[in-house]
Amino acid sequence: MRILFVCLGNICRSPLAEGVLLHMNEKLGLAWHIDSAGTAGYHIGEAPDRRTMANAAKHGVDLKPLRARQFTAADFDRFDHVLVMDQNNYNLVVRQASNAEQKAKVNLFLELALNRKNAEVPDPYYGSEKDFEEVFQLVQKGCEGLVQQLKVE
Ligand code: 4NP
Repeated sequence: MRILFVCLGNICRSPLAEGVLLHMNEKLGLAWHIDSAGTAGYHIGEAPDRRTMANAAKHGVDLKPLRARQFTAADFDRFDHVLVMDQNNYNLVVRQASNAEQKAKVNLFLELALNRKNAEVPDPYYGSEKDFEEVFQLVQKGCEGLVQQLKVE
């Protein structure tokens, strides 16, 4: 299974999902290929946001080795699922798909993982510590749902 998480900057939500799912995969012994990317290029090469890293570390998830990169159309060939954090970024990704097969790989993360129609992971970038914790809880729940949905695929 090859999974790519996508958000805007690739420094808050999608690297968190990458780190949480990697952590779960290690525990469960799943050999999935997991990565993350941003639709925007503002933070290319940067480590995740220090607030995201600090919050994840509290939950035993290490994001330090991750570095931001930008989503490219080549990612459609490299992954089975492209899981996007919100509707804006979903639209930005889907418009780069060149056929129906590529488009079908793209889903809102929480819609696929938890069957929650139109559900988004909110951007915590301008938020408080509480918002980062809420994002963690949502992403963790989503990753648990994702494993349930995809482990037999
Ligand atoms: P992310 O959060 O998309 O979850 O990584 C953001 C990070 C940076 C910015 C916006 C959202 N920014 O505008 O720089």
